[in-house]
Amino acid sequence: MNTNTLEFRKAYAVPTALTMRAIEYDHYGDAKVLHGAEHTVPQRLPGQLLIEVLASSVNPIDYRFRRGDLKGLIPFGFPRIPGYDVAGIVVDNDSDSSFAIGDRVMAFLDHTRGGALADYAVCSVSSAAKIPDSMPIEDAAAIPLAGTTALQSLRDHGKIKSGQSVLINGASGGVGMFAVQIAKSYACHVDAVASGRNREFCLSLGADHFYDYDKFDFTKSDKRWDIIFDVAGKAHFLGARAVLKDHGHFISTMPSVKGLLMTILTWPLSK
Ligand SMILES: NC(=O)c1ccc[n+]([C@@H]2O[C@H](COP(=O)([O-])OP(=O)(O)OC[C@H]3O[C@@H](n4cnc5c(N)ncnc54)[C@H](OP(=O)(O)O)[C@@H]3O)[C@@H](O)[C@H]2O)c1
Repeated sequence: MNTNTLEFRKAYAVPTALTMRAIEYDHYGDAKVLHGAEHTVPQRLPGQLLIEVLASSVNPIDYRFRRGDLKGLIPFGFPRIPGYDVAGIVVDNDSDSSFAIGDRVMAFLDHTRGGALADYAVCSVSSAAKIPDSMPIEDAAAIPLAGTTALQSLRDHGKIKSGQSVLINGASGGVGMFAVQIAKSYACHVDAVASGRNREFCLSLGADHFYDYDKFDFTKSDKRWDIIFDVAGKAHFLGARAVLKDHGHFISTMPSVKGLLMTILTWPLSK
């Protein structure tokens, strides 16, 4: 079936005046500030996809924004629909898009305000990927933000190469579980650090060795690593430097000085 014909597009077209269900919050606070609401279906711009959301996932950034930890980073006040990760079905796109209406896709919502916890969401074509037929939609929804963070950290910042020794500090979490698997796909030797209860999980991801962070301080180890990825944000470069090999890379998920400065500078503009 050709899903990019005019007939097919009309059959699936979503009238933009339609309302949709969403989860939103009107002020900062704990999870109790979240409530159901009706919103108009977002309008897609050229180069974007409109996705019917079937599954989403929650990342630390979502509860940090909701708590007000990062007030300076989101413009335009309230209400806000949280969430950046979606998996669902393409319901509207450009006719020459690489996606067809009806495609199952996972996507990172690449605009500052998120919007994943809703019936519909829009994102750039470049931040979506088709979901393999064998993958459940809920599994796909867990991939975009955490998986991309792990990939960019190791490949782009860590310059990972085959055969290197890699330490993942925080290997059992959302980002770390992808980092372990990505490093193994580069044929690296992977040491995983997490709590003892997640030992078997980390080993099942392919880690070569597991260390319990309550019993092992990697910064005092005799071992040396080409890459240390501090996913948990519990270490500092100065502490980790001693256990990095020459020309090794230390990567952290903690915000950079530049990011913190931007937060301070934009603080008066945000609610
Ligand atoms: N998720 C994303 O998409 C994303 C994107 C960009 C940045 N980040 C940032 O990356 C960080 C981690 O995110 P996440 O989603 O992976 O969080 P998460 O799912 O909560 O995982 C946290 C990880 O840190 C481990 N951990 C806790 N205390 C530790 C300690 N003292 N030493 C070593 N490891 C420790 C946890 O191990 P146990 O559970 O076994 O205790 C777990 O593996 C957060 O700061 C987040 O803001 C996340």
